[in-house]
Amino acid sequence: MHPRVDAILREARDQLAASRTSTEIEHLKTQVLGRQGTLTQLLRSLGTLPAAERREVGAAANEAKRALEAMVEERLRETAERERRARRERERPDLTLPGRRPALGALHPLTRVHDEIVAIFLGLGFSLVDGPEIETDYYNFEALNIPRDHPARDMQDTFYLSEDVLLRTHTSPGQVHVMEGMRPPVRIIVPGRVYRRDVADASHSPVFHQVEGLAVDRDISMGDLKGTLELFAREMYGPRSRIRFRPSFFPFTEPSAEVDVLCFLCDGKGCRACGNGWLEILGCGMVHPRVLANVGYDPEDFTGWAFGMGIERVAMLKYGVEDIRLFYDNDLRFLSQFV
Ligand code: PHE
Repeated sequence: MHPRVDAILREARDQLAASRTSTEIEHLKTQVLGRQGTLTQLLRSLGTLPAAERREVGAAANEAKRALEAMVEERLRETAERERRARRERERPDLTLPGRRPALGALHPLTRVHDEIVAIFLGLGFSLVDGPEIETDYYNFEALNIPRDHPARDMQDTFYLSEDVLLRTHTSPGQVHVMEGMRPPVRIIVPGRVYRRDVADASHSPVFHQVEGLAVDRDISMGDLKGTLELFAREMYGPRSRIRFRPSFFPFTEPSAEVDVLCFLCDGKGCRACGNGWLEILGCGMVHPRVLANVGYDPEDFTGWAFGMGIERVAMLKYGVEDIRLFYDNDLRFLSQFV
């Protein structure tokens, strides 16, 4: 073998033996066999040699090139394989690490209470009805025996969209729509959003939710109303819960009452949430004969009762929530307690 070829070959072998990584081997390959590589340069300069020497050197250089190429490829294969194994080892998942739970959403507490109220009344044979949130003065007030200038309108400070069109202040107009559309017997609930011009504070919100209940038939009595609501309270708040009826006034019911639930935060002793041991959850009464007449029912023939329940009120009581605004803030620290 020619001494120059021999020198290149020997040095390349030494370097190859000393190379540890595929990057180092690739580097060596370029240095010797690349376009500017030592062996390539030698082969390229063959033309400048005397003819006799040229053949000898050429043959030796070509042989060295094949030999080196084979060695480099072999080392590259081994090294790459070793590097792959090492990486796999390094990156192997640690199966003993505790898993990460995906964050699960949950129903909003108002949705849960809404669904529970609806389920209880469906179970009692009531049907679910929807009513419009945008109402006319007639359905929200007039048909419910609240004429213009009636002081009861002050209790429900109203968002007017025009002289005659407004955002419903309660779900009671749902009663009128339903009765206009069917003959008794009527047993329906109307849940939904209602609007009042109230400044938000711990117990007020300009948008909140109610569920209206209505039962009309022959011989429906206040006793049916009390029995139904007592059953509701037991289902919603547990068998030990108690309710009481307080005489009240609504233009569309006569007689009227408000219903309180015994505060189970303090068991009726009186606390920050309830004050006197009782918490009001709804208004109710026997449907006023004039309301029945307005929808074409004969008040001599039919009687009925109605109630309007505040979903927020029911939920605040059930979960011990002391500020209604928490329901609307979308603060996950609050909401995640209901998962
Ligand atoms: N609509 C009344 C309110 O919003 C509640 C109610 C409904 C009272 C039905 C009696 C009968 O306060």
